[in-house]
Amino acid sequence: MVISYPSTRMRRLRAEDFIQKLVQESDLTCKDLIQPIFVTEKDSMAEAIESLPGIKRISESFVLEKAEEIYSLGIPAIALFPVVEGKNKSKDGHSAWDPEGLIPRVVRATRKQIPNLGIITDVALDPYTTHGQDGLIDNDGYVVNDETVTALVKQALCHAEAGAQIVAPSDMMDGRVGAIRDALESKGYPNTKILAYSAKYASSFFKPFRDAVGSLKTLSKANKRSYQMDPANANEAIREVDLDLKEGADIVMIKPAMPYLDIVQRVKKEFGVPVFVYQVSGEYAMLVAAAQNDWLDRQAVVLETLVSFKRAGADGILTYFAEEVAAWLTNTK
Ligand code: PBG
Repeated sequence: MVISYPSTRMRRLRAEDFIQKLVQESDLTCKDLIQPIFVTEKDSMAEAIESLPGIKRISESFVLEKAEEIYSLGIPAIALFPVVEGKNKSKDGHSAWDPEGLIPRVVRATRKQIPNLGIITDVALDPYTTHGQDGLIDNDGYVVNDETVTALVKQALCHAEAGAQIVAPSDMMDGRVGAIRDALESKGYPNTKILAYSAKYASSFFKPFRDAVGSLKTLSKANKRSYQMDPANANEAIREVDLDLKEGADIVMIKPAMPYLDIVQRVKKEFGVPVFVYQVSGEYAMLVAAAQNDWLDRQAVVLETLVSFKRAGADGILTYFAEEVAAWLTNTK
């Protein structure tokens, strides 16, 4: 056995702060962050979400102010999620493609006021359906694929027409990326990007989000396991990513983030394409709850999770901590 010690001392490069900076392999910056925003149809300015302390459902009239704040922190994009009133929910979720609906209205207003801020819209029917599923259901409650894809295409086009630069299908239907891409090309939106939630797991970490958008109630005892992925599978994620890229996705997303870093790393290695991660609501809730009890140091632990996404190969990070982190990063520069 060749003994390399003491010629090699790993601690040499940890001995001073300056050298640690120079040899650091991954870096987290404001440019990596995307802030998800819950927009409610209600007039109430800002409504707390019990299971997401610090995150609010904000009304349409407050979005611009919020978006300005986010933009001024150097965060490149926001991701919009609607909280839809009961009267606008239906079995087929048709208000999802109403050009005068909440999301298109918010997109138009924000693009006008802050043209350089990226806007990502969620393409899925769950906030709009009375049953809380991401797609259309048959009499047995099964989410039907091809009919859902037709609806998602209408929703994606409606968002693109309003000015969303990125549409993000989060529904996990087969063939929806290809169908959306064809529609965008044929209707004159060649530069609209598709961020495909390619590997979205049937995760229990989504619960606070469902609480936030109201689908916890509408979904009731049902689940999404007939379309979202089994947390036990990794090769299947590679097939999903491969298909979405072939169908015309520009960026692929892995979701949740912390429990799926192996998938992030494999996807980045095997495809070399832009990869985003979504640090989901349950990940946020877990960290915040521990920090509130002083069991974890909020700033330290949050930054550690985010840099781990970069290390694994993520290019962009959707996180409820985005604004807070951007402020920390700016103040420590
Ligand atoms: C649904 C959707 C979900 C999330 C984003 N889009 C939840 C679900 O699939 O039920 C979860 C995000 C989060 O937990 O933060 N289209």
